[in-house]
Amino acid sequence: MKLVMMTTEINKKNFYRDLQAQVQALIADETDTIANMATIAAVLFEVLEQVNWVGFYRVLAEQLVVGPFQGKVACIRIPLGKGVCGTCVLTGEVQRIADVHQFDGHIACDASTNAELVIPVKVEGKVVAILDIDSRAFDRFDLVDEQGLISLVQAFEQNIAAMDNAHV
Ligand code: SME
Repeated sequence: MKLVMMTTEINKKNFYRDLQAQVQALIADETDTIANMATIAAVLFEVLEQVNWVGFYRVLAEQLVVGPFQGKVACIRIPLGKGVCGTCVLTGEVQRIADVHQFDGHIACDASTNAELVIPVKVEGKVVAILDIDSRAFDRFDLVDEQGLISLVQAFEQNIAAMDNAHV
């Protein structure tokens, strides 16, 4: 399958619009959340530039447990409230970190990571998982990246919410 690729900074908004449509189409008829997480992680890892890790952590029994991902082996479990990912769950807010070394409590799964974007996946207002994207480039993620990836996560949230027994 040919995926959309980002060519210039100028068409970044268009890139994310097309990417969201593509992801939406890929997961539309699939009701297995893990399969959809795996698909989203693979697509993002292929098309995003300067990204060394993309994946999901699921909130299970008051912990974050690693889900489908692309990149080097990472921490399997993260306590809620710990690190950038755990902070995202606790606050329910996107964490866009230009320099992870300045983030108090950052968990260095891969020492080469310098910037990180973490987006909550919510069902009925509750964080059920997070999408974590890491980069070796400081300040890799700007507001356009953040908004584009939030839209993509919203498409995934709608897919989960449309299921009879919404779960992750
Ligand atoms: N750096 C994250 C841990 C997850 S890995 O980056 C894949 C954190 O501080 O929560």
